[in-house]
Amino acid sequence: MSENQKPAPTILLTGASGVVGQAVLARMTEHTVVCLTHNTPVPGHRTVRVRGDLTRPFFGLDRSSYQELADRIDVVVHCAAVTGFSIDAEQTHELNVRGTENVLAFARQAQAPLQHVSTAFVARRDLAVAGYGSARPEVYLDSKRVAEQAVLASGVPVNIVRPSVVIGNSVTGRISQFQGLHTIAGALLKNTLPMLPLEPASRIDFVPQDLVADVIAHLVRTGTTGGEYWVTGGRAAPTAGRIVELGLALGRSLGLSPDTPRFVSHDMVDRLIRPVFIDALPRAQRRRFDDMLAMTALFNAVEPFPSTYGHVPGVTPFSAQNLEDAFTASMRHYAQAKRLVRPSEVAA
Ligand SMILES: NC(=O)c1ccc[n+]([C@@H]2O[C@H](COP(=O)([O-])OP(=O)(O)OC[C@H]3O[C@@H](n4cnc5c(N)ncnc54)[C@H](OP(=O)(O)O)[C@@H]3O)[C@@H](O)[C@H]2O)c1
Repeated sequence: MSENQKPAPTILLTGASGVVGQAVLARMTEHTVVCLTHNTPVPGHRTVRVRGDLTRPFFGLDRSSYQELADRIDVVVHCAAVTGFSIDAEQTHELNVRGTENVLAFARQAQAPLQHVSTAFVARRDLAVAGYGSARPEVYLDSKRVAEQAVLASGVPVNIVRPSVVIGNSVTGRISQFQGLHTIAGALLKNTLPMLPLEPASRIDFVPQDLVADVIAHLVRTGTTGGEYWVTGGRAAPTAGRIVELGLALGRSLGLSPDTPRFVSHDMVDRLIRPVFIDALPRAQRRRFDDMLAMTALFNAVEPFPSTYGHVPGVTPFSAQNLEDAFTASMRHYAQAKRLVRPSEVAA
């Protein structure tokens, strides 16, 4: 580092063991990153870890450790959240809202700007259903909306980053935990998806994890705040019809024999199919079915999300082709990880 070059800011990263947190951590090589860990250890020899619980005042740390942490942090990147649709409302609110308020209090104490990770699905205010069985996306989305309000009202310098569904690395497809989209497209590869409750023209909006990490890294580097960034495919997001074509093409190239699922309307599933079959299904299958319905209900819109990540300096928006390639890479990785095919066939 030259004499007049400022050292890279030290970052407090919450949710570092999660999908987005791991991608951010991997991207922040030039920074000292202090990971606020909870239950799951965060791998990496150069990682500094502080164990804490965001739902507790001062993260559950004693006052002097909390102050020491605040003294050394320049920027906070907040990724921790309850992301499952089947977690009860109180627990979801506790981390997503109360936890965010505690992160804001910390940022204030540290006089540090905050990069707050929300979700593009806060825009889906027109969901026809509140949920299926225990899968209640509205609980999650409400908590994220309330957290955004707390962030915007806080007076802390912030950016709000709103990704759509996060999939694996754009080239390798690797991801720390498979997401609902992987499960649905995986069912297509396994030929266990006879129907898909979506309009073929619905937008399946996803972004590779490295793109989300790139956006956050650039926001940290430039030090700008006051922005709201929709990290989404937007108009470049493929339709459900195209996703099925890509899944079928990948499956066949891997020597699998996926059949084309039948597109059915969500309404038909809600009124006619689910009520007849749901009680007869074993518990685990019922849950999987309801998760799939909750996920597809979120996708069931033709209107694209706003997309503004192209306005982040140094981050080039993905084209439709880039997104399709990233989806195929993700599902190729899924097929390998789930041993649907021999590794040699996946590499081909
Ligand atoms: N994944 C997506 O597709 C997606 C899409 C759009 C937006 N987002 C947003 O991106 C952010 C990150 O999501 P993600 O998918 O990376 O989440 P994730 O994989 O479910 O990880 C959640 C993280 O939160 C931590 N955590 C849970 N309870 C905590 C507590 N009480 N105190 C401190 N940390 C706690 C977890 O640590 P432990 O495991 O140790 O508990 C874990 O590191 C969230 O704000 C989410 O809403 C995600």
